[in-house]
Amino acid sequence: MLGVYEMITTICMNPSFDKTVEVDALTLGEVNRIRATRTDMGGKGINVAVVLRRLGMECRCVGVMGEGGSDQLRSMLDAEGIPGDFLTVPGSVRVNTKIVSRETRKVTELNELGAPMDEGQLQAFISLVKEKAAGSDYVVLTGSLPPGCPEGTYRRLMQALEGASCILDAGGKELDLGAEARPFLIKPNLGELQASLGLELRTLRAIRDAALIYLRKGVKHVVVSMGSMGAMYVGQDKTLFAPALRVEAGSTVGAGDAMVGGLLRGLEDEGDMARAFRYGVAAGAASVMTEGTQLIVPEDFSSLLGQVKVQEV
Ligand SMILES: Nc1ncnc2c1ncn2[C@@H]1O[C@H](COP(=O)(O)OP(=O)(O)OP(=O)(O)O)[C@@H](O)[C@H]1O
Ligand SMILES: [Mg+2]
Repeated sequence: MLGVYEMITTICMNPSFDKTVEVDALTLGEVNRIRATRTDMGGKGINVAVVLRRLGMECRCVGVMGEGGSDQLRSMLDAEGIPGDFLTVPGSVRVNTKIVSRETRKVTELNELGAPMDEGQLQAFISLVKEKAAGSDYVVLTGSLPPGCPEGTYRRLMQALEGASCILDAGGKELDLGAEARPFLIKPNLGELQASLGLELRTLRAIRDAALIYLRKGVKHVVVSMGSMGAMYVGQDKTLFAPALRVEAGSTVGAGDAMVGGLLRGLEDEGDMARAFRYGVAAGAASVMTEGTQLIVPEDFSSLLGQVKVQEV
């Protein structure tokens, strides 16, 4: 352990309330009686912040939220010990409803879009991020953009944050355009990487070659997550593969967010991205062990860390 705490800021432009409701069996077109309800805060930037806190790191969350529900979201952040700086815009914090059928364990999701932002609000937000993330060693940009944000919003944010090491976890255009801002790390999952390049990647070598395209664009480190198949790390002089750990599956929701949190924990402890890789794999697996929106239990992470097997590709 290096003992010097890095300051980390996560960006959350489209937070949510994740409402999980349980029914015996979901029947379309009928009245379905709800047996249990819980509401957690959600949004990938918040999820990463929660994982970081649970893994003992300091971090803050800078974001945007609709006015309706903002008091509740702020108190939920407080309860997790996460300082938040949020721009509020007209509208409400979106609610993402997950309907769990007890019979089949299948989850049906109904996701709202979120409060829209216009150019003026986006400019105000970029100023807020510049102010609040100044002095952060790492800035994590992840999650969907609210309606009204143009393509390339993450690239614009990273360019405004000159000097910070940015971690970009996004797919589609935000990944393609975001890479131009030369982030420190990108963490696409395999599907996002394939979609971005328009290629099917069938072998570890093909995945490594795809990651190298991003390194040539100036990205420093690439971690490709592959769900239950594991993950790959590609850096300037090293490519590593780690098979996924075998864990009892609770829910894979947020495994990628946990992985990003774990990678940062690893950087803190090891000071090196290649050595941090196994922390990301352990955190991803630990998050799979928890049910629903629970994210991660620190003891699971600690006990899995020693089990990660990393091999050179
Ligand atoms: N079923 C699983 N068993 C063990 N480990 C898993 C499993 N699913 C995911 N992981 C671990 O977590 C990492 C991240 O998962 P995944 O690739 O699903 O991320 P993701 O698609 O970005 O997820 P999300 O964006 O929904 O949070 C994987 O690389 C793997 O190490
Ligand atoms: Mg993901």
